[in-house]
Amino acid sequence: MKSICVIGIGYVGLPTAAMFASKGHRVVGFDVNKNAVSALNKGKIIIEEPGLGELVKEVVEKGNLTGTDECPKDCDVYIIAVPTPINKDKTADMRFVESATRSIVPCLEPGNIVVLESTSPPRTVEDLMLPILSESGLKMGEDVYVAHSPERILPGQVLYELKNNSRIVGGINEISSQKVKELYESFCEGEICLTTSTTAEMCKLMENTFRDVNIALANELAKMSEELGVNAWEVIELANKHPRVNILSPGPGVGGHCIALDPWFLVEKSKNALLINQGRHINDSMPEYVFEKIRKILGGFNGQLITLLGVTYKPNIDDVRESPIMRLLDLLKHENVVVNVCDPHANNKVGGIDSVYAASDRSSMVVLCVNHKEFEDIDFEQLRSVMDGNVILDTRNFFDKDKVESAGLRYELLGNGR
Ligand SMILES: NC(=O)c1ccc[n+]([C@@H]2O[C@H](COP(=O)([O-])OP(=O)(O)OC[C@H]3O[C@@H](n4cnc5c(N)ncnc54)[C@H](O)[C@@H]3O)[C@@H](O)[C@H]2O)c1
Repeated sequence: MKSICVIGIGYVGLPTAAMFASKGHRVVGFDVNKNAVSALNKGKIIIEEPGLGELVKEVVEKGNLTGTDECPKDCDVYIIAVPTPINKDKTADMRFVESATRSIVPCLEPGNIVVLESTSPPRTVEDLMLPILSESGLKMGEDVYVAHSPERILPGQVLYELKNNSRIVGGINEISSQKVKELYESFCEGEICLTTSTTAEMCKLMENTFRDVNIALANELAKMSEELGVNAWEVIELANKHPRVNILSPGPGVGGHCIALDPWFLVEKSKNALLINQGRHINDSMPEYVFEKIRKILGGFNGQLITLLGVTYKPNIDDVRESPIMRLLDLLKHENVVVNVCDPHANNKVGGIDSVYAASDRSSMVVLCVNHKEFEDIDFEQLRSVMDGNVILDTRNFFDKDKVESAGLRYELLGNGR
């Protein structure tokens, strides 16, 4: 069994730390956020993720997982899971990876393993981390084994995916890959594929870029459909009957810490990332597009109350990072309207009203922004009775049009030009 330090105990680092701890390793979660550390030491979590609270409580009580706000010296393995956000100019902000790497240097000893899990621009391990780690005086690849192993978990099913997903391990040399593979085998039952660190970085970025570009295609279809008098959702349903076609769904934009950001890392690093760049711009334009649609449906903004259902970047999670709905909210806030937000999951208190009906009281328009499961059973008769206006704008093709209309409400669907 190894002693493992996970640097950054957020959405990725904490479940990873807990999984290693559950397999008997001695794990220390190192984070600069003292609240996260003190919660961890009480066996508590400050994020929402099914099953994680129970697992953390169990491994903390067993003494296998502890938290600290200083990089511990006596570990065999250092795993970096810190944020990699983007700057205003869409370049990668690598300050966290850099400082996490620096914090390891005084702790390094021969035989140690260093793994970067954070999603990073191509060549981060080679060009940013190795020069810093080499300041220890140890030889990278000989004394210390270094690899990138990108995390591909889906929020909401993190524990299942950590165990069952395949994992890429890109070492700076073969022995690094091998050592890191053996490490993850303690909880990962999926295939562990070995490659170089830069290929691993590229793989992770291309996975998210694939999704982003394809969502951009669906969003472009939605805009064209409204222009040309067709229903994008019908086009998608019919086109996807072709055995080799799978058009994704349009929506009010792409958010989250991954898909909305990672393609920019490629745009920054390669002048050939043209389609990728365009796809990002199309997806980033969707909140404005929905905003203009709301304005058009209402015939302008003159003090109406608008209700947004959902602000998180995807359904049934608490995460609002990069959420396109936050951008939509921001646009509406600058207009002469009042906005109520109902989100039973959001962690930022923006979705302050838990009841759909309370949030829609005297509303002119209800906009379904995120298809949370709580919105599945809306009673449209009750909704109609509390609203002043009668418009439902569905940006996800989530509601049953007939049910909405039979309650006397007007149903508008993003991407429907029919
Ligand atoms: N959230 C996801 O679903 C997901 C999925 C796959 C990959 N990723 C990638 O994983 C990485 C981490 O993402 P996250 O969602 O866990 O971030 P997060 O913000 O939830 O957690 C990161 C933690 O790192 C801490 N931190 C920052 N700098 C530090 C430092 N120098 N030393 C110690 N702690 C430090 C922060 O305080 C924070 O608690 C990112 O690169 C992200 O792109 C995230």
